[in-house]
Amino acid sequence: MKFFVDTADTRDIADLAATGLVDGVTTNPSLIAKSGRDFAEVIKEICALTDGPVSAEVVATDYEGMVSEGRTLAKIAENVCVKLPLTMEGLRACRTLSDEGTPVNVTLCFSANQALLAAKAGAAFISPFIGRLDDIHIDGMELIEEIRLIYDNYGFETEILAASIRTANHVKQSALAGADVMTAPPAVIRGLANHPLTDKGLAAFLADAEKAGIKV
Ligand code: G3P
Repeated sequence: MKFFVDTADTRDIADLAATGLVDGVTTNPSLIAKSGRDFAEVIKEICALTDGPVSAEVVATDYEGMVSEGRTLAKIAENVCVKLPLTMEGLRACRTLSDEGTPVNVTLCFSANQALLAAKAGAAFISPFIGRLDDIHIDGMELIEEIRLIYDNYGFETEILAASIRTANHVKQSALAGADVMTAPPAVIRGLANHPLTDKGLAAFLADAEKAGIKV
């Protein structure tokens, strides 16, 4: 499973990239706004921190505007992946940009039919939003399972990118459901390494090593 970091905070990205666990980055207008930085400047900096795809989202909502913004974003760096909303205009723009060789991440997906449309439009990634479905008491994992089955039924190569991941359980369940990628905030990714028995066991090993005077 590939891990993308869902943030526009370049310090966090650099820190996590150093672990070798980062396969790409996703941003959205809310995350860019939170960074307080210039859009193109921060995307360029993020693209230099990873070899993997960096999702940068358009803000236009009409076909021409999305294609034009998508072309502008694609020029920032070779690993930019243009993020488009799952609307009919967005799907049309997805087909155009994908045919031009620009990878597209279709975002704000909340149903299997929407995911089917994105695959037909040539999307490189489809982003079902797990946490936001949980917020309204709908099981986001069922959605991942449905998309996995549909994509496998027809051999679609669009990668399932589990997004709006908020907990360690979301990560595990997305992996079990067959998502190709998950994107999560830095704190969620760091938290995956935590286990109280790991801490307890390590403390005991270190105490025994000190008592025995073990040095490596
Ligand atoms: O990847 C999409 C993500 O940024 C949305 O997450 O927590 O705002 O629903 P959230």
